[in-house]
Formats: sequence, C-alpha cells, structure tokens
Amino acid sequence: MKKTAIFILLITFLIGCQQENFLAQQIEKRDTQQDYKEEPESFVQVEEEDKEQAEQGKEEEDKGNGEKQENEQIDENKDDSLTVIDNPDSVSLVVNKQRKLPDGFEPDDLVEANVPYHAAEGDPKRLIRKVAADALEDLFAAAKEDDLDLVAVSGYRSYDRQKQIYENNVATKGQDHADKFSAKPGTSEHQTGLAMDVASAALVAVLEQSFIETEEGQWLEDHAHEHGFIIRYPEGKEDITGYSYEPWHLRYVGKETATEIYQAQVTLEEFFGLYP
Ligand code: DAL
Ligand code: ZN
Repeated sequence: MKKTAIFILLITFLIGCQQENFLAQQIEKRDTQQDYKEEPESFVQVEEEDKEQAEQGKEEEDKGNGEKQENEQIDENKDDSLTVIDNPDSVSLVVNKQRKLPDGFEPDDLVEANVPYHAAEGDPKRLIRKVAADALEDLFAAAKEDDLDLVAVSGYRSYDRQKQIYENNVATKGQDHADKFSAKPGTSEHQTGLAMDVASAALVAVLEQSFIETEEGQWLEDHAHEHGFIIRYPEGKEDITGYSYEPWHLRYVGKETATEIYQAQVTLEEFFGLYP
C-alpha cells in the first residue's frame, strides 16, 4: 500500500515536471519569435534557427573545436575596404555600409531607459546609451501626453548578436534580401547603443513598414526630432542609406542635429556630406 502511494506520488511529480518544462519551452519560443520583429515576419523563423546554430557552435567549442570555427566565421564578415570610424563614442557618428565600428567596440555607458519594453528583463536589447535613454524617456512621455503608447523593442546589439542575425538572414533569404534589412556585424547602428526600434504598444508585433500607418508611427515621424532622434532609414532614400524604409528605427543624434535633419529632410549621410 505504502509502495503504491509512493509510486503514485512519483508519477505525479514526473508529470508535473514535464508540464513545467513544456510551458517553459512555449514561453521561450514565444519570446524568441517576438524578439525579431525588426525584420519582416519571415525573418522570425531565421532567429530560431539562429539560436539552434549558436547552441551547436557552443557544443563544439566545448569539445575544443569551437574557437577556430568562430574565428573563421568572424573573418568572413570582416571587410578591410571599409572606413573604420574614429569617433565611435560621438553621438554624431555615422556607421553604414561603407563605415564600420572599430573591432571590439562596445559602448561603456549602456543603461535601460525607464520606458515600457517589449523584451524580457535583463535582455541586452533593452540597453541604450545613457544620453539616448534620457531622450527616449522624454520622447515616450511626450507621446503619452498625446495619448499614444509606444514600446521599446530592440536597442543595443553586440557584434556577435548582429553577426548571428545577419548570417541567418543570408542563409534563409539570400544575400540581396538580407542586405536590404540587416546590417553586417560591425556596421549596425544597434552596436553603437544609439539606436532603438520602437513600436506601437497595441501593435507590437508590427515592426514592418505599415507601422507608418499607425498613429504612433505618424507621431514619431513628426516629433522624434524634438527629442533628439531621427528616422534613420527614410522612405525613398534607400540608395543613400543602403537600407529599406524602417519607420521604427530611431537613432539618437541630439536635438539640434535631429531638428536640422528633419527640417532639411535629408539623411545622416547627406547631412554630414558623406553622400556626393
Ligand atoms: N536593420 C538595421 C539596418 C540594422 O540591422 O542595423
Ligand atoms: Zn533597428
């Protein structure tokens, strides 16, 4: 009798563990899918595969082969023909397809802004440089005064994180398509700590060009500069920026520069005379 009771207790415990594990997997899967709304929907899958590949890479590293493999992959992304920017800490820096960050660059003043996030606590994508975090808080507060609810989706990305995203986009979508939406590692504004992808809280899953049709998207286009941000990849300027229109991608440059750029309706490249 006692044995039967212990047996039943054991089975109940095991079933409970399995359910918990299943739930945890579902939550992880959902968060991963939400993690990558900067790219069109079809890129979501990419992110998942990305994670699996990263895990595989880690296992091999543990076996002693990983370091060599990792170095080979990083080298593939390095392009010595690009200009290395010499002011990576400046809010006026221009990083793009021709201009990359110095190797190993990481901002040293990353913080979380006091704004609503669509990212799990502790996720590095919640980070942004202090000066931009303060400005982001002002921006969100101003939107709120106009009864609009913004949500911060994706800020800082390390070189390795960008590498993971970019390489998987290439693998699944092809080089041309990936290059319209995703920066090669070392050339993403997200690595500078001065960029934040922002969405409408009600439509957080819609980090697509249709974001501009939302009230929040319109408001950002009209008011982001008042708080020091520009829409970095405007519509119709793809030939200059190198990227498709991204109404959600905000880049901090400071109020004065942002206002001049907004009034002149130019890109960062044009403003700094980097486009002939
Ligand atoms: N989506 C922008 C271009 C980036 O990957 O940095
Ligand atoms: Zn972005």
